[in-house]
Order: sequence, then C-alpha cells, then structure tokens
Amino acid sequence: MDDESSTDQDADSPDTSQMTFGKGSDPTDSSQETTNDDSGGISIRDRLQTESSGGVFANKDLVRSDTIIDEDRIVGRDDQLGRVVDNLKPVLQDEGIPDMLLSGPSGTGKSLIIHAVCKQIVELCESQDKTFGVLSINCEGPKTADRAVYRLVKAAADDLGVEPGVPQTGVSTDQKLERLYELMREHYEGVIFILDEIDMLEGPYQEAEYNSLIYQLSRARKLADFDGPISLTAITNYADFMKELNSRAQSSYNPDDIFFDDYDANQLRSILKMRRDAFEPDALAGDVIPLVAALGSHTHGDARKAIDLLRWAGELAERRGGNTVTENDVREAQEKYTENRRLRHISGISTQKKLAIYAVAATGHYTKERLEWIPAGPAFKTYQFIADTMDMDQYSRETFVNHVTEQSTYGVLEFDRRGKGRGRGVHMYFSLSEDPETIMETIREDSRFEDLAHENATIGAVVSERLTRFRNQNY
Ligand SMILES: Nc1ncnc2c1ncn2[C@@H]1O[C@H](COP(=O)(O)OP(=O)(O)OP(=O)(O)O)[C@@H](O)[C@H]1O
Ligand SMILES: [Mg+2]
Repeated sequence: MDDESSTDQDADSPDTSQMTFGKGSDPTDSSQETTNDDSGGISIRDRLQTESSGGVFANKDLVRSDTIIDEDRIVGRDDQLGRVVDNLKPVLQDEGIPDMLLSGPSGTGKSLIIHAVCKQIVELCESQDKTFGVLSINCEGPKTADRAVYRLVKAAADDLGVEPGVPQTGVSTDQKLERLYELMREHYEGVIFILDEIDMLEGPYQEAEYNSLIYQLSRARKLADFDGPISLTAITNYADFMKELNSRAQSSYNPDDIFFDDYDANQLRSILKMRRDAFEPDALAGDVIPLVAALGSHTHGDARKAIDLLRWAGELAERRGGNTVTENDVREAQEKYTENRRLRHISGISTQKKLAIYAVAATGHYTKERLEWIPAGPAFKTYQFIADTMDMDQYSRETFVNHVTEQSTYGVLEFDRRGKGRGRGVHMYFSLSEDPETIMETIREDSRFEDLAHENATIGAVVSERLTRFRNQNY
C-alpha cells in the first residue's frame, strides 16, 4: 500500500457520512441531514455493523479462502506436510535446517502448510524459552530486492515490537540487511525467511530482482554472524522456477524442492467436509459438497476456488431467501462465476478495488438516464461517500482512477477521455461491460459490502446531486 496515499474529502463536498435517518424519513431530502447524536435515528455505520440474521451460514469465515484455518482442518497434504515438518524439526535441537522451494499451482496449500508448520515451531520454541522468527513477505508488493529486504526488516520489527531502525529509502540495501541481521542476532535463536510468490519480484531491470534477493539472503548464513538455524523458503506457482534463476542465485540456493499438485475430487471433498460447520446444521443438501468437489476437480483442482464456489452457492441460497443450499445453487454459482469471467474477476479483486468499481456502477445505475459513459468526477465523489459510509480508507482520485482503469485489462470496462461539451474541458469517462446492477450485486455478495443494499436511496441521492453539479459546472 505504500504507493498509495489517503486523501481528505474535497472542501466543497458536504460531509454526508454522518447522516442519520429517523424511521420513515426521506433520505433523499437533504434537510434531514443531522448528526449522529441527537436524532434518535439509526446511523449508517450502526446499520452497516449490525450482523444480518438468519440465512444458511453459521460461521461464514470458514468458507472464505483468506481465513487462516486451524491445523485440524488440513487434509490431503500428508506428504508435503511431512516433508516440511521433517525439514524444520531440527530447529528444536538447534540444528541446521535446509532451504525449501514450495511450488505448484494456485490453491494447492503451499502457503497454508508452511504457515501451519511454522506456527507450531514458534510455539514449541517458546516452550523451550527460545524465539523462532518467521519472517514472511509476499513478493507481489515490493518492486525491488531492496524494498523486499526492507519488508523483512519491518516483518521482524513488527514481530518483536521494536522500531525498524532503518528508513525505507535513503540507505543502501546492505545497511538494511545489516539491520535485519542485527535484529536476528539480538532476538532470535532461529529464523525462516518465507518469500511467498517469489516469481512476482521481477523489478524494472532485465535481470529479475528475485535473483539478487535470493542471492543476498542465502548469504545470511555466512554474513549475519548468526549462530542459529536459518532457512530461506521461497514459494511459487512455477514448477521450473529454479531454471529461471541466474547462476549466482542458483549456486547459493539449493532448496529442498517440494511440489504441491492439484487436488482430486476426493481430496477436495475432504477439505470441504472439514468446513461443513461454516453452515447451519441442516443447511447443506447432501449432494452439495460432492458436487462442488467434482466440479472443482474437473476444472482446476484448486481448493481456494472450490471453497469460493461453496460460499457463492450459500450466498445465492440466502439471496433467494432459502434455508438450504441446493445442487441448483451450486450450478447457478458455477455458471455465474465460471462462465462469466468478468464477474468472477470482480468477485476476486481487493476490497478497495471493489469499492472503486461499486462506485462507478452505482453512478451509472442511479442516474435516470442510465449513462453509457460514466464521468469519473461524480464516480469519485460517490466512491468517497461510500468509503466514508463503510468507514474504509479513502484513496486519492488518482489511485481511484487507477483502480478502475486497471479493470479494463480484464474486460470489465473501457475508459476514455472525452470533451464534456464545447470549451468545457476534457474528462475521464468509464463504460461498463456488464449491467451496473449485476456488478453491484456481485460485489455485495462479499459480506463486507452486503449492507450497501440498504443504502440505495442515499447513494442514489449522492449520485444525482453530483451529476447535477457535474453538468452545471466544471470539475
Ligand atoms: N489441504 C488443505 N486442507 C484444507 N484447506 C486447504 C488445503 N489446501 C488449501 N486449502 C485452503 O485453500 C485456500 C488456498 O490455499 P493456499 O493459500 O495455501 O494456496 P497456495 O498453494 O498458497 O495458492 P497460491 O499459489 O494461489 O498462493 C486456503 O483458504 C486454504 O485454507
Ligand atoms: Mg499462496
């Protein structure tokens, strides 16, 4: 997130975030605007924070693929789990541990397994009065090896509750590494560096940055003056990642290569069964889990997608007001998300990007004219309003526009700069490829957004006001 900056609301926009509505009030009437304290109405924030009742889910987090699950829910990865355990076990006897490379397709348990084992090692070390450092970064974020090293310093500092002690910019990579080694010497008896999605660290130069990161870290054993065991563990989707490395990185990094293959239908079924308690006791029709597992194994063998499909089916069941998830819900979810690449893509983007797209779709949807080309200015104001309503971070207009235009790569929309009329300047406009309402519904299937369904009138009012202003003035 370090490239993005928050921004204040523009001075000319009314602060609509604190609007409260008494029962029966007309939310489109701006004379109803009051503060939270004195109206006795229900604030938007309160409404957003109230759990929706009923439905098919008992603990929906269990079918969110970003939830960190307990060890006893891991099934079907005995070999890989065994290898990782055997490799890291020597830490408990203060003996050396090997480097590892975990590779395999998406959703096959690589991140899950390494973190599950490391968690146990940390706890066992604690019981021996030792501190084991799990310094894990995702290499999708940092663009250079230098930035990645800084993230490792930061990971250690956060883990230890101390200051990073070096700035992110303005000092050399060696100085950052030195600080990393210092933190290791002072606080840890053993360390594992986990470089997740290592292949994403390409950087701006011809030679990918992961080469230098791997080279520099693998020399830590020699240079850090650190007595304890160290493992450099990288994670990637590419089975041939080692071949991508330059000779310097290859000669310093000799990992135990552990491959994670696709799950078959039986494995997916066991994984899903272990999360059955995400649903109310009788909410899953008997054939639902086998069907999700079968569909998943035919198309990908990816546990993340299978878990998502099960959740989507549950969400569709709730939307039609049902108490049971049926085979039909699964098929509908499969069709909706698997066939429609754009909607599936939207359902998988980050919360901030969903928010940006939601604002654009709402701006298109709530105008009487059903605009084909939606102006970025009013859409950004709608974005600010919704972000405020949901108590979410607000980014600058530039970041908002970047988040939206980025989706053109996935066919979600087109964008264009065009004139507003003679002499009235050139503005950025977006044109959505799907019906705005369908896009909004898709985003609201993410529970963080589901309560926005209650905000139609308010958002509609903001959209109308902003579009009227847009037409009447330049901004
Ligand atoms: N063997 C398993 N048992 C239970 N849940 C699993 C298993 N494997 C994967 N999952 C679940 O599937 C999701 C994806 O797993 P994970 O994040 O480990 O995939 P990955 O291999 O790291 O994928 P990517 O390459 O896309 O990062 C997670 O929600 C995880 O809990
Ligand atoms: Mg992963």
